Amino acid sequence: MKLSLQTLVAAAAVAAFSTTAFAGADVEGAKALTKANNCMKCHGIDKDKDGPSFKKTAAKYKGKADAESKLVTHLTTGPKVKLEDGSEEEHKMVKTKDMAQIKNLVAYILEQ
Ligand code: HEC
Repeated sequence: MKLSLQTLVAAAAVAAFSTTAFAGADVEGAKALTKANNCMKCHGIDKDKDGPSFKKTAAKYKGKADAESKLVTHLTTGPKVKLEDGSEEEHKMVKTKDMAQIKNLVAYILEQ
């Protein structure tokens, strides 16, 4: 059997297109959540503050299969983190029980 190259290319194009169409985070929703939780007091999109920039976090987790679960845990369990001045405090927990919203926020961070 011979598959035509054209068919393969077309199928690949459709696959690539549909992943981007469905994987995109709801940016406005994610931003609203960072605003409501004061995340940007300690994080910038591309600037480090007390915490790493979201770009840096995205780069750190790029290609890692457990990126989403690691970050969901980070944002829901309040792990101890070190601030710039050396003091420690529990990381901010996202004030929502809506896992879809938290996952959307994580997807948004990982897209930076
Ligand atoms: C009081 C300051 C502060 C606030 C507020 C804060 N963070 Fe952080 N965040 C930190 C620090 C410090 C770290 C670095 C932790 C480390 O590397 O040990 C961090 C780490 C992170 C990481 C990287 C975790 C990893 O595994 O690499 C993410 C993502 C993150 N924060 C997201 C958020 C979000 C989303 C919010 C709002 C809900 C938020 N942060 C609010 C200080 C803060």
